[in-house]
Amino acid sequence: MSGRSHLLRCTGCGARINGEEAGSTFRCAVCGDLFEVVYPWSEAWGGGDQVGFRPNAGALRHLWAERRTSTMAADQSGVWRFRDLLPIVNEDEIVTLREGNTPLYELPRCAKALGLNWLLAKHQGMNPTGSFKDTGMTAALSVAVSRGFEWVACASTGNTSAAMAAYAARAGLRSMVLIPEGKIAWGKLSQSMDYGSTTLQLKTDFDGCVKVLSEVVSKAPVYLLNSVNPYRLEGQKTPAFEILEQMDWQVPNHIIVPGGNLANCSALGKGFAEMKHLGFINKVPKISVVQAQGANPLYRAMQANGGDHLEAVVADTRASAIRIGNPASWKKAVKVLRETGGTCEEATEQEIALAKAEIGAEGIGCEPASAVTLAGLKKMVKRGFVGAEERVVLLLTGHTLKDSEYTMKFHRGELLTDAEMAGASADERALHEGLRREPIVMEPSAEAVMRLLDAAMPAGQAR
Ligand code: F0G
Repeated sequence: MSGRSHLLRCTGCGARINGEEAGSTFRCAVCGDLFEVVYPWSEAWGGGDQVGFRPNAGALRHLWAERRTSTMAADQSGVWRFRDLLPIVNEDEIVTLREGNTPLYELPRCAKALGLNWLLAKHQGMNPTGSFKDTGMTAALSVAVSRGFEWVACASTGNTSAAMAAYAARAGLRSMVLIPEGKIAWGKLSQSMDYGSTTLQLKTDFDGCVKVLSEVVSKAPVYLLNSVNPYRLEGQKTPAFEILEQMDWQVPNHIIVPGGNLANCSALGKGFAEMKHLGFINKVPKISVVQAQGANPLYRAMQANGGDHLEAVVADTRASAIRIGNPASWKKAVKVLRETGGTCEEATEQEIALAKAEIGAEGIGCEPASAVTLAGLKKMVKRGFVGAEERVVLLLTGHTLKDSEYTMKFHRGELLTDAEMAGASADERALHEGLRREPIVMEPSAEAVMRLLDAAMPAGQAR
């Protein structure tokens, strides 16, 4: 890896260091804030000698499209295809599972229900391990390889650990995950075991796991792969490039992202800002964040003080991926909300469950944490923040199979408590009823199946 290809810039005090100089927890030695990667062509470079160099937007558009037809592993990756705007890693150090290149789907029924002309979903759950984390992991794990680490580790609500375990296994590195005991979905837990990671279930929550791991990495030569690692965000910015490509470089009005540790909205904000700075586009979309009501520290901070201070909360939501009370990247997220004109919303358990079922009924599906985006959008439309003509893209972060237990419980009517349903409007209740598809146990007879079809079809059609 070439140190001169980029620097790490502290987002708090502006200090700049070489990538190799970052401490084990990726906090600035001067002020304790988080770093971002800057390049000689970045607005925030300030490094002197290479300021004149600037990638050519027109040439890169062609090159990136062309790479999709190549048989080279790096070209087939929807992250490394954009390597011209990433830290330079030697080709043989790239660890890829052919992540990225995920679909941008239309959600016509959800759009109609909301009175929007159209609505799109960028489905990052269609990545190799089933979540958006793969795009960040390929970048940061490749850096770990190039720096010669043998062990990598993360604290996780499940998806980061699944991604890290897979990429570490591909690279032949040892990995260790710290997860909150009993608070992550089985699909995710099983992945980290399947990929051979040392899986530690700690009797605490995600925030407690982060604390323990910070201490461990400061004492042992273990590379931290949580999203405080700025290289993760470099990979996670590439869906912004893909969205623009997929929309033929027309800028959507609005991107809506679920908020947990708040790195992903920061990464996308960085991606779009870089596209604008380099002249690919002439404006950036609004980027908004939606949190679960039970894990809503950013929402509270935005309401209380416009995001100047954030108080940690004790988090509790069935959307376990975003059950985070003390988000590491909150300052970066506030900056993105302010700079793009986005907003922050929260969604109740009932609203999340309904939104997830609606996305499922479009034939797409997602995990509960991803569905907060649709739940939040409904509120933004209701209060006039999003208009009918606006082009909105929901970032769906995880695959529906990540948490099939949640889905089963919803369809069996066992998910939500009466207290949680008490806040639902009559319309919402009717939607819940209409979307539920409980499995029907019956005798193995064609007559029984025909009776059911008869009842479900318009008179006589089933005969
Ligand atoms: N959606 C899903 C499916 C996630 O797994 C996460 C975070 C988020 C949204 C929130 O993204 O943290 O960047 O704001 N999952 C992490 C993990 C924390 O450990 O898998 P964020």
